[in-house]
Amino acid sequence: MAFLRNTWYVGAWSHEVKRELTPRKLLGEPVLFYRKENGDAVAIGNRCPHRFAPLHLGRLVGDAVECGYHGLQFDCSGACVDNPHGDHRIPAAAKVRSYPLVEQHGLVWLWMGEPGLADPADVPDYSHLVDPALKTIGDVMLQKANYELVVDNLMDLTHVNYLHAPYQKNDDFLAAKHEVVHQGRTLDSLRSIPSTTAPPSFTPFLDDPAKPVDYWLNIRWHAPGACLLEVGVVPVGRPRSEGIRRQGTHIVTPETATTTHYFYASSRNYLLDDPKADLETRNWQQLGFHEQDKPMLEAVQEMMGTTDLDALRPVLLTSDAAAVRVRRMMKELMKAETDAGSKPIFVLNK
Ligand code: FES
Ligand SMILES: [Fe+2]
Repeated sequence: MAFLRNTWYVGAWSHEVKRELTPRKLLGEPVLFYRKENGDAVAIGNRCPHRFAPLHLGRLVGDAVECGYHGLQFDCSGACVDNPHGDHRIPAAAKVRSYPLVEQHGLVWLWMGEPGLADPADVPDYSHLVDPALKTIGDVMLQKANYELVVDNLMDLTHVNYLHAPYQKNDDFLAAKHEVVHQGRTLDSLRSIPSTTAPPSFTPFLDDPAKPVDYWLNIRWHAPGACLLEVGVVPVGRPRSEGIRRQGTHIVTPETATTTHYFYASSRNYLLDDPKADLETRNWQQLGFHEQDKPMLEAVQEMMGTTDLDALRPVLLTSDAAAVRVRRMMKELMKAETDAGSKPIFVLNK
């Protein structure tokens, strides 16, 4: 399966990258994360070009990685810097790939395409993750489903009324005003539900849960898989800035064609130091993401048996508007990349 290459993908949370060799497969490629002695994060190919041992089975020697099989050493640029055998000459092909990397706001972003095109200014803004006015709780999980199915799930939030009904159901949700706005490499799906009952996920935090609220859900997709959700409630007629709200980080990165790393977090603007509110968040993430979204998406993937949604001629509903636009934009971006002559140059160890 082809993936969009010339773009930033989240490879890890910052706290996952340590002074130890940590493997992770991204877009079908074996990647190795570690930190240099000065603390900088590094991502290089994880397959030794000699006999293809995974480099994470080796060890760190200063800022270099020593292969655990026959001892070749690679630096953080992917170049072989030590060959302990024979005349110690370093063969020209003895190198692994090195990925341009930006560590920002607690996330480690990797450029999976042509290194010369990597521009750190294009990394999406997730500064809310480190905003001291918010309390953030998150994690990462693997879903056995194609990443576009996971994005579909995020861009069609009507599923919350069914799949997550006990926690998120709102009787006015399906009739909500819904707007889809496309700009550059982003697409916003904006929903507002005036004067309604607060969804159960907010009621423990309201003075009077029976009182009607204005409720909104906005989600911004940033190609190829970064979604930023804002959900909030406010007393009817009051400005949203007075409401309680959560910024939801939902970022997906393909592991393979049919498996996806899902980086998620919730950043709330209320009860920052309240362990009960922390627990509520964790319980929801466990229930909603791990026990409801994940099994459904994995079952859908299995039922589809392919990653080509169009080939199965899915029935379209009005609620699919944002997800369909996202898929169309992805097709256009991938075509533009192919037309621009981006070749599959990312053969391992070349
Ligand atoms: S497989 Fe890495 S040095 Fe032989
Ligand atoms: Fe969901």
